[in-house]
Amino acid sequence: MEKRGLSDEARQWDGWRLGNLAPKWEAIAWLFKPYRLTITDNVLKNQTGAINIEACLIDGKSPTNLLKFWFSDDELRLHEAQKPLELIEFLIHLTTREGQVILDPFVGSGTTALACMRTNRQFIGFELNPHYVEIGQQRLNDYHHIEKIVNNPQQLDLFYEAPFEKVKKQ
Ligand SMILES: C[S@@+](CC[C@H](N)C(=O)[O-])C[C@H]1O[C@@H](n2cnc3c(N)ncnc32)[C@H](O)[C@@H]1O
Repeated sequence: MEKRGLSDEARQWDGWRLGNLAPKWEAIAWLFKPYRLTITDNVLKNQTGAINIEACLIDGKSPTNLLKFWFSDDELRLHEAQKPLELIEFLIHLTTREGQVILDPFVGSGTTALACMRTNRQFIGFELNPHYVEIGQQRLNDYHHIEKIVNNPQQLDLFYEAPFEKVKKQ
């Protein structure tokens, strides 16, 4: 209002703000191929639609539809809307089987792609912004490289410095 020269109104509205409260939760839409008869038919025909509760117990209990995840201490923040890797891995374990194909049409920093690599799923992704395409690819390269070092420490490459992923000590 001040910018518009409305000083009286600006005084009346002093302390007020435009916008929303800071978001503390996000909805997750779970979409899968449509089925004709029952979910069981869908699982049998399309290999999708079931949830693997046993692989996803939280503190020994079945997860509810309110999930609380946050970034791990060594997780770098590469995108303003980045998701915690642990959350995406949880959802992958919950809804997919090893070897299945996961599509992320909004790749961003590549969290889903990385989670697919770590959980042995195949991945297809799209990203509009070339900057994030590069970041996502580098993130996967880092992981690939670190995996090699962890599995074959004798091949340790002293000159490689992974910018995005830190080597997990065993
Ligand atoms: C919410 S972010 C994804 C963040 C990602 N899950 C992560 O953890 O880093 C959405 C991304 O989708 C990209 N995007 C938006 N519209 C798109 C489109 N039509 N096709 C491909 N990518 C798109 C944006 O550039 C942005 O990087």
